[in-house]
Amino acid sequence: MIFSSRRRGEVTTMEMVNQYEPEIRSFNYHHTSTTQLYPKTNPDNFHKIYPVSVALNVPFTIFCHILTLATSTPSHPFSTLQSLHCTNEARTMSKKSLDYDQINENVKKAQYAVRGELYLRASELQKEGKKIIFTNVGNPHALGQKPLTFPRQVVALCQAPFLLDDPNVGLLFPADAIAKAKLYLSYTSGGLGAYSDSRGLPGIRKEVAEFIERRDGYPSDPELIYLTDGASKGVMQILQTVIRGPGDGILVPVPQYPLYSAAISLYGGSLVPYFLEENANWGLDIHNLRQSVAEARFKGITVRAMVIINPGNPTGQCLSVENLQQILRFCHQESLVLLGDEVYQQNVYQDARPFISSRKVLFDMGGAISKELELISFHTVSKGFLGECGQRGGYFEMTNIPPQTVDEIYKVASISLSPNVPGQIFMGTMVSPPKPGDISYEQFLRER
Ligand SMILES: Cc1ncc(COP(=O)(O)O)c(C=O)c1O
Repeated sequence: MIFSSRRRGEVTTMEMVNQYEPEIRSFNYHHTSTTQLYPKTNPDNFHKIYPVSVALNVPFTIFCHILTLATSTPSHPFSTLQSLHCTNEARTMSKKSLDYDQINENVKKAQYAVRGELYLRASELQKEGKKIIFTNVGNPHALGQKPLTFPRQVVALCQAPFLLDDPNVGLLFPADAIAKAKLYLSYTSGGLGAYSDSRGLPGIRKEVAEFIERRDGYPSDPELIYLTDGASKGVMQILQTVIRGPGDGILVPVPQYPLYSAAISLYGGSLVPYFLEENANWGLDIHNLRQSVAEARFKGITVRAMVIINPGNPTGQCLSVENLQQILRFCHQESLVLLGDEVYQQNVYQDARPFISSRKVLFDMGGAISKELELISFHTVSKGFLGECGQRGGYFEMTNIPPQTVDEIYKVASISLSPNVPGQIFMGTMVSPPKPGDISYEQFLRER
């Protein structure tokens, strides 16, 4: 390295610093990258730096690199420019990785209203003693909903398996909760304290598949069901897999749930809004959808996925079968993956239009579309009758996704090692609750 040891005709950094310190300090290099030092991007720097590099007989580009290295990594072993850093002034000039202006721009762009400005203001007002009802996010236990007894009993026994060895366990816990806890513990390799498979415990994925089959009337493959830390984590994993860059667009309903806008920004994609029709019971007009896609294409965006929230949040509607068919056909024609957020499927408070899953409508349609359309559906323990938001249990099911992509999504899930195991148990109790004839059934019915 040029400045690390003296050869004939070379100068040391200290000499350089002494000789040119005023000039060096005047460079605007302390928060720049090498490219910003280059003349084209920063002529001002060039006029200051170039004469010094000539005076030192160091090629300009190398000199820029040295300055950048020396200033961005104060401990860089090759450069005695460190000495410059040791002065307090230089220390304040050098930027650290997590200085606000150095962090990932996508993180700054992501707006998450659920925990954003309004939420923070409301929290402040709460601290001042004002009574605030938080409606920014569905958090039923925070608003007084009591946990259901059976899932909590099962999880309690899984968390404290020594209770199962207590001769009095049957006095405190009903036999079906004890049996379920033993079953779930048998699925784990070391109880709730051990990582599970990154896709979740196979036994619980099988229960989810059975639940989906009972709901839709079509078999479901546990290998295509991944358990997640709430639906949010699954949505994020899938968006991360879909979005390749700012040219990729995701159709998102307006009004929407802010997870989508925030995650799309975080992964550097582009949100393509489509508007729900308040006058049509918050359904969606397929012509508007086409217009949104046309506008996005005009801006050079490749629309790659479409999100539907059904039942809607914040709109509360259930999409009709006809509307779902239109959406599925549209996604098929446009080669979009449909992301079906169905977390409110058990929160329907009217009989006129029941919830029907996108998957069921797709399979009912039959033909090529039912074998070709890519669909990923999400569900959670946070909503429905459990409302166990804090437990972080969710799943997504993949339909018509190529096996190699399924493997890649497995890899993405593996990076987080394992979904939260207690959350998986809650998922098990949600999709496989007490049945008629079970000891806990009556209480379960009363509580749900
Ligand atoms: C539409 C919608 N999707 C996803 C989520 C996230 O749920 P989870 O707690 O499972 O991450 C919510 C939470 O309120 C939601 O309203």
